[in-house]
Amino acid sequence: MRIINVVGARPNFMKIAPIMAAYGDHPSIEPLLVHTGQHYDEKMSDLFFRQLGIPEPDINLEVGSATHAVQTAEIMKAFEPVVTDYKPDAVLVVGDVNSTIACGLVAVKLGVKLVHVEAGLRSGDRGMPEEINRILTDTISDFLFVTEKSGRENLLAEGVDESKVFFVGNVMIDTLLRNKSKSDESTILDEFDLSGDYAALTLHRPSNVDDPVVLGRLLDALEVIQNDMPIIFPIHPRTRKNLEASVLGERVAKMANLRLLDPIGYLDFLKLMSSARLVLTDSGGIQEETTILKVPCITLRENTERPITVEVGSNTVVGTDVQKILTAYRETMSGAGGEPRTPEFWDGQAARRIVKILSEKV
Ligand code: UD1
Repeated sequence: MRIINVVGARPNFMKIAPIMAAYGDHPSIEPLLVHTGQHYDEKMSDLFFRQLGIPEPDINLEVGSATHAVQTAEIMKAFEPVVTDYKPDAVLVVGDVNSTIACGLVAVKLGVKLVHVEAGLRSGDRGMPEEINRILTDTISDFLFVTEKSGRENLLAEGVDESKVFFVGNVMIDTLLRNKSKSDESTILDEFDLSGDYAALTLHRPSNVDDPVVLGRLLDALEVIQNDMPIIFPIHPRTRKNLEASVLGERVAKMANLRLLDPIGYLDFLKLMSSARLVLTDSGGIQEETTILKVPCITLRENTERPITVEVGSNTVVGTDVQKILTAYRETMSGAGGEPRTPEFWDGQAARRIVKILSEKV
């Protein structure tokens, strides 16, 4: 059985790593790894392959950055001949980036079965590019692997046939559990002289960083927090470009305790999160990782497609209102909330379950 596996952007790499490893237990499956090249910088891509032991991609489509339409179209044009030549039995896509829907669409149009890992997540916000990618990918998929029970409920409510839906757990957590002890050896805390409390921050959602008014509001809140403790901010290229293009860049430069770093590797970031007093983020995956690391997460978005993280008590979704952010921050610092529970099946075995099902059912 031949399966083409697709990755494109940074969060895809953590998801594909345990799946590629799990194929090792199933010699009847011949996996091919295709990188679309949506992310291409050393620090956004190659570093993750090395740290996570992902095999070199068999093919790199090298599409790079562009508008949504151009990027999606370029991926489709480049991926179609790969599917035609390799003649796979299935194409497996992960997550919700443009590479996910682009390659999914190519596969089904060529009559190849589509497997979606991390299916069913819904923020309810169609202004979010990822939400469109999720809905479309799920609609055309033949195998939908979900990470949390809301995923299954959403798919059934949308009319997806129950026989296609499998609740298997979370491959991103497989990767976290596999790499936790390695990350403990990271020296990042010494490098940045972090001995006491600090917060870790990430921001890259277009709705937060492309609009200077919203970004300015977030900085208002961050300015207050950085008076209490350092905020360590590994900055996404999209966010850096936007800061540099506006007066907000100068404001950030004046905040002595808001410390910008270039994007950092997986192991350093895991260490940075796990030792933080709290994490502030607009990322999806980080809401999940902090849940397992038992570090309080304040989500700087109006909604989440990962409601289980709120349900188990590790995540607070606050939006971008300054007062709401500061209230959540103060509650977190007062120790409210207690120890979060672990979501069902977030046990390091999700990829094994997925590959076993594929080996039996494709
Ligand atoms: C993409 C995903 C998003 C995911 C995020 C993680 C979509 C629609 N969005 O958003 O879901 O959470 O990746 O990072 O697929 N750039 C670089 N170097 C790189 C890659 C990008 O400098 O290696 C810059 C380019 O200027 C580019 C911008 O970042 O225009 C945005 O990259 P893009 O892949 O379009 O979207 P992300 O914001 O990274």
